Amino acid sequence: MHQYSLKGQIRRVKTHWRTLNPAGDKRVVVTKELPGSRWHETLTAAGCRVEVCTDSAVVSVAEIRAAMGMRCDGAIGQLTEPWRAELFSALKAAGGRAYSNYAAGFDNIDLAAATRHGIPVGNTPGVLTHTTAEMAVALTFAAARRTGESERFLRAGRYDGWLPTLFLGELLRQQTVGIIGAGRIGDAYARMMVEGHKMNLIYYDLYRNEALERYVAAYSAFVQTHGQPPVTCRRAECVEDLLREADVVSIHTVLDDSTRHLINAERLALMKDNALVVNTSRGPVIDEAALVAHCRTHPNFRAGLDVFEKEPELAPGLADLENVVIVPHIASATKWTREGMATLAAGNVAGILLKRPAWNRPDVMPFLGGNPPQASPSILNATELGIPLYKE
Ligand code: DGY
Repeated sequence: MHQYSLKGQIRRVKTHWRTLNPAGDKRVVVTKELPGSRWHETLTAAGCRVEVCTDSAVVSVAEIRAAMGMRCDGAIGQLTEPWRAELFSALKAAGGRAYSNYAAGFDNIDLAAATRHGIPVGNTPGVLTHTTAEMAVALTFAAARRTGESERFLRAGRYDGWLPTLFLGELLRQQTVGIIGAGRIGDAYARMMVEGHKMNLIYYDLYRNEALERYVAAYSAFVQTHGQPPVTCRRAECVEDLLREADVVSIHTVLDDSTRHLINAERLALMKDNALVVNTSRGPVIDEAALVAHCRTHPNFRAGLDVFEKEPELAPGLADLENVVIVPHIASATKWTREGMATLAAGNVAGILLKRPAWNRPDVMPFLGGNPPQASPSILNATELGIPLYKE
């Protein structure tokens, strides 16, 4: 039982669980239903009895502790849950040996606390890349071409006929796209925008992405042989340079102390009046109140957001802004990706419980195939815990 507040009322709710493979000799707690079947087949094959919470509401720390109880060998949790010292200490006390986030991001995890308790922590990178990048592209064009507000207009019965001035948006072809964070997802989004829309690229990242630079250079040479203008790629010296120059800014950074409110009122003020910002990373990277204020005073500025600072709540006024497109954290929501994430999360827990080594390559696709490697796909603190790395 736990307490939660619904429209000011405090209610006591009981969480509901179902059990898979009740005869398993290890016990794994999974705090949400996951898509597909391969994930529980993986855990079953590893001898696990699996207890899955069937409620859609976020399970509280107290409920997770209660579910782990006195005996829990491993857990799969969600990005909506604070996996910090309290939960890792409870998991350890229950005999736990493995945890995996059902997410690539891990800002909900206190990795140092998990390491202190000797708990290996897994995540699920490598299967979200193109799915999330495609959603960033979708938000980019939805914002640039005003699809949200024009659809609301149409559905409200306000369309009286074609007009030369109806919902004028921005043409992005051969404009400049800026990406903040040139890791896997940022890189994939950048290539989609460069290849698909011949946009020039500026990126900001602590590390140089030479593969991306080479790719854009080769693509530029290719399009020129077809009589088209070149496309360019440059790494910005600082985030301010990128914000001044880009027509579209897409955020693909992790959330940590250095990126919290990276986009704030001062930096928004540097952007072009008709620029647009897209965020599929983590909400707190943008100061949402500052964004609301900026969008109010700059009607030609646009935003496309998949993530929010205080998810699931929206900053006051955000939902009323016509120049903002919002979707409920669904950038990774394709069947293939979400099933892949489940397979990787289960593989992380099963691999550790079976004392398998940690996979040591960014490419996790072999885990989705018919003959997966005998390893845990992605263990964040493998080195710190001395878990051996996979050798062929
Ligand atoms: C992740 O995996 O971090 C994503 O935010 C889920 O959509």
